[in-house]
Order: sequence, then C-alpha cells, then structure tokens
Amino acid sequence: MIQPMTFKEMILQGIPSQLPNKKNRDEKYSHAPKRKNILTASEKKLALANALRYFPASWHAILIDEFVEELKLYGRIYMYRFMPDYEMHARPIHEYPAVSKQAAAIMLMIQNNLDPAVAQHPEELITYGGNGAVFQNWAQYLITMKYLSQITDTQTLHMYSGHPMGIFPSSIDAPRVVVTNGMMIPNYSKPEDWERYNAMGVTQYGQMTAGSYMYIGPQGIVHGTTITVMNAFRNKLGSGVSPNGKIFLTAGLGGMSGAQPKAGNIAGCITVCAEVNPAAAKKRYEQGWVDELTENMDDLIVMVKKAVSNKAVVSIAYVGNVIDVWERFDIENINVDLGSDQTSLHNPWAGGYYPVGLSFEEANDMMANHPGQFKNLVQLSLRRHANAINKHTAKGTYFFDYGNAFLLEASRAGAAVMSENKIDFRYPSYVQDILGPMCFDYGFGPFRWVCTSGTNADLKLTDQIAATVLESMLADAPASIAQQLQDNITWIQEAEKNKLVVGSKARILYADAEGRAKIASAFNEAIGKGLLSAPVVIGRDHHDVSGTDSPYRETSNIYDGSKFTADMSIHNVIGDSFRGATWVSIHNGGGVGWGEVSNGGFGLVLDGTAASKTKLESMLFYDVNNGIARRAWARNTGSLEAIEREMKRSPNLTVTIPNLVDENLLQHIQ
Ligand SMILES: NC(=O)c1ccc[n+]([C@@H]2O[C@H](COP(=O)([O-])OP(=O)(O)OC[C@H]3O[C@@H](n4cnc5c(N)ncnc54)[C@H](O)[C@@H]3O)[C@@H](O)[C@H]2O)c1
Repeated sequence: MIQPMTFKEMILQGIPSQLPNKKNRDEKYSHAPKRKNILTASEKKLALANALRYFPASWHAILIDEFVEELKLYGRIYMYRFMPDYEMHARPIHEYPAVSKQAAAIMLMIQNNLDPAVAQHPEELITYGGNGAVFQNWAQYLITMKYLSQITDTQTLHMYSGHPMGIFPSSIDAPRVVVTNGMMIPNYSKPEDWERYNAMGVTQYGQMTAGSYMYIGPQGIVHGTTITVMNAFRNKLGSGVSPNGKIFLTAGLGGMSGAQPKAGNIAGCITVCAEVNPAAAKKRYEQGWVDELTENMDDLIVMVKKAVSNKAVVSIAYVGNVIDVWERFDIENINVDLGSDQTSLHNPWAGGYYPVGLSFEEANDMMANHPGQFKNLVQLSLRRHANAINKHTAKGTYFFDYGNAFLLEASRAGAAVMSENKIDFRYPSYVQDILGPMCFDYGFGPFRWVCTSGTNADLKLTDQIAATVLESMLADAPASIAQQLQDNITWIQEAEKNKLVVGSKARILYADAEGRAKIASAFNEAIGKGLLSAPVVIGRDHHDVSGTDSPYRETSNIYDGSKFTADMSIHNVIGDSFRGATWVSIHNGGGVGWGEVSNGGFGLVLDGTAASKTKLESMLFYDVNNGIARRAWARNTGSLEAIEREMKRSPNLTVTIPNLVDENLLQHIQ
C-alpha cells in the first residue's frame, strides 16, 4: 500500500511529480471578488503561456482549459488544482524541512500569512486589504516552499512579485530572501495597470505585510488605533485629562476599522461606531469587539446620553449610515469630542462608501446596475457628511482623517473640507497631528516579533522581557518621549490579557530605535541561554518611521516638498539588506493604492548567537534612524531633537542638520 506523503515530503517535492486531481475552491472560505476581465485576446494568450510555464509540457493540454475557465470566472489564474493537501498554518519551526534555520522561519511566516484563520481570501493567496497577495498563484507557493527547504546560509532567494526567480549564491551575511512586489516603471503604475499586469501573471499587489510575510492578524491594527485614539484625546483635552464619558464618533466595523471600538475601550472613552452592513456589525458584536449594538437611532440617543452622564467606558455600534448619526447628534446637541471615519474611501465607487438614504441592499443593487447614479449619490453624501462634521467642529469637535482618503474624496466631490488657502485640507490627517509628531518623528513605530517555537510560554516571556526593558528606559527618558514609553509599557503589560493572538505567537509593540534594539538584544540573550526555546523573528509593519513614503499617510507630516519622493523607503530596504536583515521587501502600493506609495520592511531571525546580536544592532539602528534623519532634514522638531540625541549616544553617526531660515526673511518673497 502507498503511504500518504508527510508534510515534509510534500514541501520538498514542490510542484508534484504526478498531476494532482482537479480541486474546486472551498465555499466555506471568503473569496476574492471577481477581478475585471481586462485582457485583450493576445494578452490572454500571454497570461495562459505565463501560467503554463510552471508545469511540464505534457500537462499543458489539460491545464489550459482549466486556466481559461479561471481567467473567465475570476479574472485571474489562481491554479486551485495545486492547493496543498496539508493544513495551512504556522507550525513550530522544527517541523519545517530546511537546511537553513532562517529559511525555516520564513516558511513559518509565509504559512501564517496564508492560514485561513488569518488570511482574508486564503485560496486566492490574499492576506488582507482585498488584494494584498502573498503569491499570485499556487505554483509560486509550491516552488518557493521547496526552494526555502533547499536554500543554504550562503544563498539568497529572489522573489519577483510572488514569483521565485531563483536561488543565487551570496554570503552568510546576505539576506536569505529579497522580495519586491508591484515594482513598476513609474509611468505604468495606475490602478488599470495593476489589473492588466496582475491578470497577465507578471506582478502583484503585495499590500504591506502580506507580500512580505510579516502579517500578524488583527492585533497590529488594534495597537496602532489605540495609540491614535489615546493621543487624539490628549490633543483635544490636554494630557492628563481622562477621556471617560467623552465621545469618539466614527464609522466602519470592517477589516481594520473593526478595531476602533476596542481601541476606544482601551483608551477609556465612549465610542459610537456606525456600520451600514448589518453582517459586519453583528460579527464585531459577537466577537466582543464592540459592547452594544442598536439599529434604532432613538435608542442610540438614549444609550449615548446615559453613557455620558455615567462617564462610562463603552463602545456602541449603530447599524446604519454614519451621516445620519452626525446629523442627529447635531440636532440633539450631543457633544462629540473626537471624530473620524474609517469607511473604505480608497475604494469609493465599488462598496467602500455607502451613500445616505439608501438601504444596504439598495446601495449594492445601484452600485452594480447604475454605477453613474451611484457615484453621484456617493458624492452628494460626502458633501452632506462634511457639512454635518463642520457643524460639530464649529462647536469644538476635534476631527481627523484616519488614512482612509476621506478628505481626498470629499474634496473631489466638492465638499467643504478645504482650508482658506484652498490647497490644504481644513482638518489634519492622523499622521500630521498625531502619529507623525508624537511617534514617527521620535522613532516610535510598530515593532513586532514572532516566537517560532509556537508556544505561549515563549510569548509570555518575551512580553515580560520587553516590559522590563521599557521600564528601565523610562527611568531616564527625556520628557518628550516619556508618555510614549509609558503607553507602551501599559500595552505590553496588558497584551496577554487582551487575547489578541490569531495565528502565529506574535506580538506588536511601538518602540523607538533604542527600545527596539534593546528588546531584540534581550531576546537574543534569552535564546542563547535557552530561556526561550527557539529563535524569534523580529520585524515591523511597513506603516512606520522609515519604511514608507506615502504623501497622504506616513509621510504627510513632511513639509519641505519632499513628500512626493520615495528615496527614504528605497534607502531603507537597501540599507537594511546589508546590515543583517534575514529578508527584505520593497513594494509599490499598500494601504492607499497602487502608484500612491512606496513601502518596505524586513524580517530578522534571532538565534541567540553573537552574529545575531551584531546584525540586530546594526540593522535596527539604521532601520529607524534613516527615517528620523530624513524627518529632521525636513525640519520636523521632534526628529531634530531625536537625531541630536542619537548622535550624542552614537559617535559613529553623523547626520546633516538643516539650518533654519527666519520666516521674516521669506515673507516678502513673491
Ligand atoms: N491609517 C491607518 O493606519 C489605517 C488603519 C486602518 C484602516 N485604514 C483605512 O480605513 C479604511 C477602512 O479599512 P477596513 O479594512 O476596515 O475596510 P472595510 O471595507 O473592511 O470596512 C469599512 C466599513 O465601512 C462601512 N461603511 C461604508 N460606508 C459607510 C457609511 N456611510 N456609514 C457607515 N458605515 C459605512 C462598510 O460597510 C465597511 O464595513 C481603509 O480605507 C483603510 O485603508 C487606515
């Protein structure tokens, strides 16, 4: 009798030697929306030839009909037949067949990004954000895993938008994997181009942590949103004033927006979050991410007034359109302290934003059948939405854009969101007012790690180590960063209790250059001593100090005219690659759209050795200080302070410091 293959054997074989049976996609999973059929007849032939080149010629006659069908039905060729038979999830590192421990850690991270418990559309290899792909098709996955099982510590695997181009000789100090996603000749970087070249199988949208194998489930977004809400309240109320009984009004209980009520609860306010999709609202309520739920506006008013008078910490989902809430709260004279929005306005015409006055079903129907009418209604709603917000801000509400293109689309719709100079928006983005000056300019960003043992014990110990490091730093921290350190100590002390782990045993923790290096160094020491039972992967979100150039988000608080350049993110990936990263990635698109952002990241495997210590110190130092240096050169005050402090701490560092020009000198220049 033939024994079924083991997990290790299946990884080692890559593309199977026998053509596997046809597989249908599993309807129990969420699937990517049907993509546009955009290819001309000759481009379609190219797409098919491109897909078939992964397989022996003897299979082509069978596979071609199947791939034609996939292209017709889904707009892409995913190669469902080649989905592996084993379960997809991060395994403890020793379960991977690999010559290199570093490569085994990368296999773990890839499988986590494709785990159905973690990934948004697992069978289309999409981790999050609708189109954030790890690979374009299953052949790429199979070959990559096989290559990672073979690669040695003196070779490097080069990944072109999901395609494993090959393993090349390198050195022990080189990255094991170099990833690029969606890199285009700049003139070919419009959304249409993504549709065309992705359908042809030659590029992909890697989002941020999807195509770079660094996604850690929802806890990343909860931490970032908590930091944003807490600091927004400090901006509005002054630091030290409690947000208890104060209202945060916003919209969206979807993929990432669903973190808002949880973050509001951690920050200690009343969160009112409107969501038009009853299923999305119910899901978040059942998951415990929002405390209360109502479909009735009168009930909402009663609940909110009661919460205000009790100074309650509570989150309330309203099933309906957020514009109705802004307008009714104005009529009722309910004081909104903090306002924002997290509808998906990066995608306004295809379901990201629902116009007021229509039911959810009516809107979906109109979107598909009368797109012109739908667009008009969206724009009319945006104008009404902005008018209602303006009434509240006139009464004292602090409103900020949360990186969802609300102000951009509202301005395009002719809404009253421009400031007097008609160039800037009337309201700030969260990076301009909050994350930029309070976090990024000082180097604080979303550092993260994954315990490759897969054990809770290791994760718990890393939490404790990180808390101890931050506490010791707080003792002699300058006043400008003490609050950030304290917030992060609180976060890490409560992290286990908040039960945020989905998938691999991962943790996120905002930290600055010094903090990241000290924490990583302490982990490395604990691995060396055997206190942690296996290597730890460190990395970060791309939404960070140095990794991302994005003029309306991460670099929106750069005011020297350079926010439309992408030198910082490119330097970052190159700089990290020769300072010790185990893998590096650079992406076009991610968060705000194809052609709108350049972003990169890294992963570094700590194995307890002296070599790991040298690498982490050199790489983390550059990975954060590169961005601080650029922000300082742009004359950002916090960064000037941070980089001067770093130069005192690190005699090997010399950064060019700007000479500030007296504004009076410039005043009369025409
Ligand atoms: N800056 C950041 O760090 C950051 C973080 C998270 C999300 N974002 C942005 O926020 C947006 C939302 O992300 P997501 O993953 O939650 O998207 P999503 O599409 O999963 O969720 C958006 C939700 O808004 C709801 N909605 C749309 N119009 C509405 C309306 N008029 N009233 C009430 N509800 C409405 C939709 O039904 C949907 O559930 C995106 O544009 C994303 O890029 C930015």
